[in-house]
Amino acid sequence: MKDQLQTEVGESVAKVSILVLHGPNLNLLGRREPDTYGHMTLPEIDERLQALAAQLGAELQTLQSNSEGALIDALHAAMDPVGAPVDGVLINPGGYTHTSVALRDAIAGIGLPAVEVHLSNVHAREEFRHRSLIAPVCVGQISGFGWRSYELGLRGLLDTIADCAASSLL
Ligand code: DQA
Repeated sequence: MKDQLQTEVGESVAKVSILVLHGPNLNLLGRREPDTYGHMTLPEIDERLQALAAQLGAELQTLQSNSEGALIDALHAAMDPVGAPVDGVLINPGGYTHTSVALRDAIAGIGLPAVEVHLSNVHAREEFRHRSLIAPVCVGQISGFGWRSYELGLRGLLDTIADCAASSLL
């Protein structure tokens, strides 16, 4: 059981730190197309995610932005953090999933493990949503479980980080 997932930094033990990015229009969750995206608001999703992270011994920094540049700046800041190091990225890129070469390049460029999540099953929707420019530079993609996609994505990301930490100790 990895209920207390932690990495060792010298003598002390640091919590795993995850950057959670929510892309465009996700600030409207709860009101936006609820048949597709559900009734939960973004603050409610973040609250659940924070609770799960605390249970798993991780800490989260969350950001929602409608701007591609702000999302890219946050990824760059994760590469050169002012405070605690960032260990991985959980991202719902929203519509940028299907269009943004720049976001993809930023994720590839910072070299941190990333997991892409979607509330809806993008593969069961319009054809233009079937292609993700982001997924190929991520560890994996979770799609179609509503707000639970975030929780599944966080668990997958933390397990991946733990596996990498364990194999680097071998
Ligand atoms: C989404 C799916 C995208 O295709 C869409 O543009 C969104 C939300 C999702 O979470 O299901 O904004 O990322």
